[in-house]
Amino acid sequence: ADGNPADGKKVFRKCAACHTVQAGKNRVGPSLAGIVDRKAGTVDGFKYSDAMLAFGADGGVWDEKTLDAYLADPRGFIKGNKMAFPGLKKEDEREDVIAYLKTATE
Ligand code: HEM
Repeated sequence: ADGNPADGKKVFRKCAACHTVQAGKNRVGPSLAGIVDRKAGTVDGFKYSDAMLAFGADGGVWDEKTLDAYLADPRGFIKGNKMAFPGLKKEDEREDVIAYLKTATE
């Protein structure tokens, strides 16, 4: 099902302590500007974990399916990655935040 970007903007409050949607503006986490359909681990100037770099090097791309799996269980989907976030248990919250990320690039 398609998510709702306006609802996803509210869900993104849970991410905003660590992420922006402004290109080039990294915080504790990398900028998520333009993240949808991009290869994992490729934001300039961000120091990723070896696990995240390996996921990208193995062909990992952030499409709807991989984002949904990662956001449902960040630690389980990429073992050893350093995103200290428990995940979004509710499928509708994941769909909404992914819809927001598709539109949010500033
Ligand atoms: C990485 C999304 C919450 C810290 C990532 C990546 C995505 C993402 C897609 C991979 C980026 C890339 O490959 O360039 C989200 C979303 C969140 C969220 C949608 C909210 C629902 C958080 C929070 C924190 C955080 C709250 C800090 C406590 C990080 C870090 C990485 C990361 C440190 C890099 C992981 C690594 O290199 O192993 N996040 N995130 N994220 N995120 Fe988040």
